[in-house]
Amino acid sequence: MLETRNLDKSFGAVHVTRDVSLKLERGERRVILGPNGAGKTTLFNQLVGELASDKGSVHLAGEDVTALAVAKRARRGLSRSYQKNTLFDGLTVEENLGLAASIHTGHATTLWSDSLAKPEVREIVQDVANQVNLMPFLHANVSEISYGVRRQLEVGVALATRPLVLLMDEPTSGVGPEMAKGFHDLLNNLPRDLTLLIIEHDMDLAFDVADTITVLNYGEVVFDGLPQEARGSSLLKEIYLGSWEDA
Ligand SMILES: Nc1ncnc2c1ncn2[C@@H]1O[C@H](COP(=O)(O)OP(=O)(O)OP(=O)(O)O)[C@@H](O)[C@H]1O
Ligand SMILES: [Mg+2]
Repeated sequence: MLETRNLDKSFGAVHVTRDVSLKLERGERRVILGPNGAGKTTLFNQLVGELASDKGSVHLAGEDVTALAVAKRARRGLSRSYQKNTLFDGLTVEENLGLAASIHTGHATTLWSDSLAKPEVREIVQDVANQVNLMPFLHANVSEISYGVRRQLEVGVALATRPLVLLMDEPTSGVGPEMAKGFHDLLNNLPRDLTLLIIEHDMDLAFDVADTITVLNYGEVVFDGLPQEARGSSLLKEIYLGSWEDA
């Protein structure tokens, strides 16, 4: 469903991603681990097209999308949520979802209330709000909701574009342990045919959600395999030092 071949990116003299080749099957849930600065977010930017790669290619559902801009890749089903917050603060939760859905369905109009009223848009908003537990917050303004709910909404906004592949950059960063647990449940309850690629620092989440794990270190794939193999790997223990014991 999603494949990269030999992706490379340097910023000046800094070689950030090196020869990254990944292959995700439809419905696969892959977690990317790696220390700070390993190149995880850079790889995502290359995947979605925000950064042009120096070398290599990206393939989505069998099609080479390397030359396509962000919006075109998104329209073909590649969606992401960000490490940093990217919501419309002046709008409600429902309106944020509706905006994403209406762009996807092609119902976006200059008159805001018209877009939201379209049945196709309403259906997606309801559906996604249920999936990411946002029903109680639909009419709240984004500026009023908690940080954790904002993170849920970011996933919801990405889902409202009805992606084939959803990329999430540290979806639980900055939320407390309780909220993070809720997030695991939420991810586990997403449709099984949705392909997920998640950057995560939290080992619990990684092992809880992942079918497969990829570890990046200095921009290179140093591990690619099953979670149970990752646990036993001495290389990974070295990279992560003590944090492995917490998993
Ligand atoms: N636009 C840029 N220009 C120059 N250097 C950059 C740029 N973006 C990232 N880098 C550098 O690339 C390296 C990898 O950064 P990246 O954000 O991809 O790491 P990461 O694995 O996502 O880290 P973290 O876990 O902290 O989010 C870092 O050394 C960073 O300073
Ligand atoms: Mg990052």
